[in-house]
Amino acid sequence: MSKIKIGFSALFALIMLSMFAALASAEEPFVPTPNNPAPGINVGTIDNNGNVATHRTHGNFQNNTNSCANCHSTHNGDSATLLKFEKTESDLCLTCHDGTLGFYNVEKNSGAGVFNSTHNSSSMHNVGTVKISSAPGALTPTEGELQCSSCHNPHGSVNDRLLNTTVNGKTYSTAAIDLELVEDPAYKDFNASTGPTGLKIYQSKGPVFVNSDLPDVPQRVYSNFCSTCHEDYLKSSGSQRVDGHYSHTTNSYKSGRNCASCHYAHGTDITLLKDTAGKTIADYMKPVAQGGKGWTQAIATDYMKDISAGGSALKKYTNMAVCWACHQSTHKLDTPIVEGGNYSGKPTR
Ligand code: HEC
Ligand code: HEC
Ligand code: HEC
Ligand code: HEC
Ligand code: HEC
Ligand code: HEC
Repeated sequence: MSKIKIGFSALFALIMLSMFAALASAEEPFVPTPNNPAPGINVGTIDNNGNVATHRTHGNFQNNTNSCANCHSTHNGDSATLLKFEKTESDLCLTCHDGTLGFYNVEKNSGAGVFNSTHNSSSMHNVGTVKISSAPGALTPTEGELQCSSCHNPHGSVNDRLLNTTVNGKTYSTAAIDLELVEDPAYKDFNASTGPTGLKIYQSKGPVFVNSDLPDVPQRVYSNFCSTCHEDYLKSSGSQRVDGHYSHTTNSYKSGRNCASCHYAHGTDITLLKDTAGKTIADYMKPVAQGGKGWTQAIATDYMKDISAGGSALKKYTNMAVCWACHQSTHKLDTPIVEGGNYSGKPTR
């Protein structure tokens, strides 16, 4: 991600400049309005049917849309697809998704994890700098760089979070990716102001949990999605990979064995990593009275650091803690519980 940040686009610089200029003169934080829901974004407020509804940047394009201008330039594009960016396509996404918008800041923790290398134990999908064919478990040689748009469709999608229906040339499912999205309480007033079909800010709790034997339950579709690039990682118990190795089950929705139980989609770092109790650094730094352990930042960080040889690999749990949490109840290990042990953090999805 640091490499991407070097490529700050001119557009971003302009947005920041105008933001600072606005802040400096008014000395007040940005107040979103229906016409101007975030800095640098100017959207319509009347939809095709004459109803009041705040337009969206991605998809749901109305007949009077201005959205294309956020990313495309008619005569002055930087790519053959007429996009506006400095170095790579992901710079374009980051002009807005680096915190500029307020919401959907991918450099801060979310249901997708984080794109940020400034903390310890960080690892992420290195968008803009790696070839898709370098994905572990890739079987089909493919052209192209890993970009935000490898996974997302900026023009809208039937899948939640604009996830592409075709990834790396493969249509991986006939069912849509269904995420459990709840309206973000921090944007309560804003969400109430944008009209029934207008822009709403959601938080994600991961693939919707459906306990059924159907092949298209959201957890399994999610694993199919990840396996468009990590082809040889989609395995059931006991089946060999093409290279002869075996893998833990990843194609089952049962007991949360899909990719999302153990991995984030964007990346991880020490502030997100959990232990077998499902606790984070922030939890342990809370005073005992509030359920924490009153640990200093130094102790909590040392405790949670990922010491794996292979790095933190976009994991939700530190080291191999996720294995230990699950195998206390499912296929239980006959190992005595150590004082202070707590295995309640077992993933449920
Ligand atoms: C949030 C940014 C964004 C917005 C808004 C946006 N686009 Fe795009 N567009 C992209 C990106 C990124 C690509 C290249 C990657 C891709 O094809 O998905 C692209 C590609 C395209 C292409 C080429 C597709 C192809 O298959 O060759 C067309 C045509 C296009 N956009 C038209 C539009 C129109 C029309 C609008 C407005 C209604 C629009 N875009 C709004 C980001 C955007
Ligand atoms: C001009 C600012 C801007 C740019 C550039 C931009 N976005 Fe967004 N993005 C938004 C806004 C505003 C939203 C809120 C939903 C909406 O308006 O469609 C959003 C929402 C999203 C969401 C969540 C969608 C949902 O409804 O849950 C994803 C995923 C996303 N953007 C990905 C991208 C990607 C990938 C790119 C680059 C191709 C990109 N964005 C470029 C402004 C931007
Ligand atoms: C490997 C695929 C992949 C790549 C690459 C990727 N994303 Fe995502 N992104 C996802 C998935 C999957 C989700 C939904 C995760 C969930 O909620 O469980 C997501 C969620 C999001 C969200 C919503 C975050 C929230 O607040 O919940 C935004 C915004 C977003 N992506 C933007 C981006 C941008 C910008 C980039 C490039 C810098 C990018 N994504 C690259 C797969 C990807
Ligand atoms: C569009 C292709 C693509 C998709 C889809 C994709 N990945 Fe990846 N992934 C890659 C590539 C390329 C790499 C290796 C290069 C890098 O990012 O550094 C990688 C690396 C990884 C790594 C190893 C990171 C490390 O630090 O060693 C993990 C873990 C991972 N992906 C998990 C996932 C999960 C989980 C999903 C589904 C949410 C997913 N991937 C979807 C392309 C993809
Ligand atoms: C039960 C938890 C779990 C599930 C489910 C899971 N992973 Fe992993 N994954 C891990 C752990 C733990 C590591 C670190 C590997 C190690 O050190 O042995 C890892 C490592 C990886 C790596 C880095 C390369 C490697 O082999 O070490 C990739 C890529 C990856 N996982 C992709 C996926 C994909 C794609 C899925 C879904 C199809 C998935 N994982 C499902 C726990 C899981
Ligand atoms: C979400 C719960 C869960 C997590 C997390 C989990 N396991 Fe499992 N594991 C299972 C279940 C259930 C089985 C039984 C086989 C099956 O159907 O997948 C199993 C089977 C196994 C087996 C026997 C081989 C097989 O396929 O039957 C081993 C070894 C194992 N797990 C090790 C691990 C390791 C190492 C980790 C950490 C990367 C881990 N498990 C994480 C639930 C989990």
